[in-house]
Amino acid sequence: MYTVPQLTDFSGQALNAEKERLTDAVESEAAAVKDEAAQKLFRDRWMARKNGILTQVNDLWLKASPKEAKRDVGALVNDIKILVESTVDATALGLKPQSVTVSDRLDITLPGIRRPIGAEHPVLRTMNDVISVFRAMGYSVAEGPEVETDFYNFEALNFPPNHPARDTQDTLTIADQESKPLRERLLLRTHTSPVQIRTMEQQKPPVRIICPGKVHRRDTPDASHSPVFHQVEGLAVDTNITFSDLKGTLDHAMKALFGSAVKTRFFPSFFPFTEPSADVAISCIICGGKGCRTCKQTGWVELMGCGMVDPSVFDFVKDNGYDSTKISGFAFGMGVERLAMMKYGIDDIQLLFQGDVRFLQQESN
Ligand code: PHE
Repeated sequence: MYTVPQLTDFSGQALNAEKERLTDAVESEAAAVKDEAAQKLFRDRWMARKNGILTQVNDLWLKASPKEAKRDVGALVNDIKILVESTVDATALGLKPQSVTVSDRLDITLPGIRRPIGAEHPVLRTMNDVISVFRAMGYSVAEGPEVETDFYNFEALNFPPNHPARDTQDTLTIADQESKPLRERLLLRTHTSPVQIRTMEQQKPPVRIICPGKVHRRDTPDASHSPVFHQVEGLAVDTNITFSDLKGTLDHAMKALFGSAVKTRFFPSFFPFTEPSADVAISCIICGGKGCRTCKQTGWVELMGCGMVDPSVFDFVKDNGYDSTKISGFAFGMGVERLAMMKYGIDDIQLLFQGDVRFLQQESN
């Protein structure tokens, strides 16, 4: 085992010989390092501050050297320090020190680093499924802002200021806007319906659009409520659009999404911007309509609101060709989470937002 000798001869030749002995020693000891414990011993033997070989070299060679040899010995000790440190580092990395060739080190049979491929979230997938169904019927996709003005979210949809119908929307408003006129005040849109007006302002009839997007309401999270959720809005305006067109369109869409055995049912409802209005339920996918927990034993699950566009909504855009005596239209808005829960048999809406990878993996297969 190598030990650091005291030097008496400080000539260049003698120094080189000592350096060679030390180099051989550190290399052969490094080659024998096979595990972590050995690596630690090796490191301490050579680098420990107290009595490690480097310290001894410093004391016995550099400090003990006569003045005139200091320069050369200093340079040599420095080289040795670099050599020892890099050799110790290399053993720590599990590499053979010095003279290693690339082919020794590169094991091409090791498996590569696998990056798990992401998958579409069940909510997005459902949204995209709905979009495909309507695209195939000739609808195009429109979008609107999530931070909306009171005018688009309410007023132009025939919710007048202070009308009690506003109370059903549990609106989240942006603070400190009292100085603005009501219609310009900002809020988080409570539904995707404002895109109806935004689209009709931009585009003359006929119109066939769907608008997928995020909406917000002041709801306490539980198994069926979330303060953030998604809707897909639909709007069709043309001459001679009737309630049967609405029924046929939605019935077709539900069958395309859930299979041809599914039934739809329309029952009267109220929305300020549609007249007549209806809620749409489909026969429960989970129990096939017999009655279960998901459908609260009724056999039906409510998925959306719809109706014929109220003439007073057209009045807001009458200058752009929407004359309610000549044209008519229908609109609908469906909750995407509800659709996804039905489609994938999920009984708690919160699962869709918690980001638990196990859930997401299960749903992406
Ligand atoms: N915007 C309504 C809601 O969020 C749904 C709806 C859309 C109803 C279009 C009728 C027509 O409750």
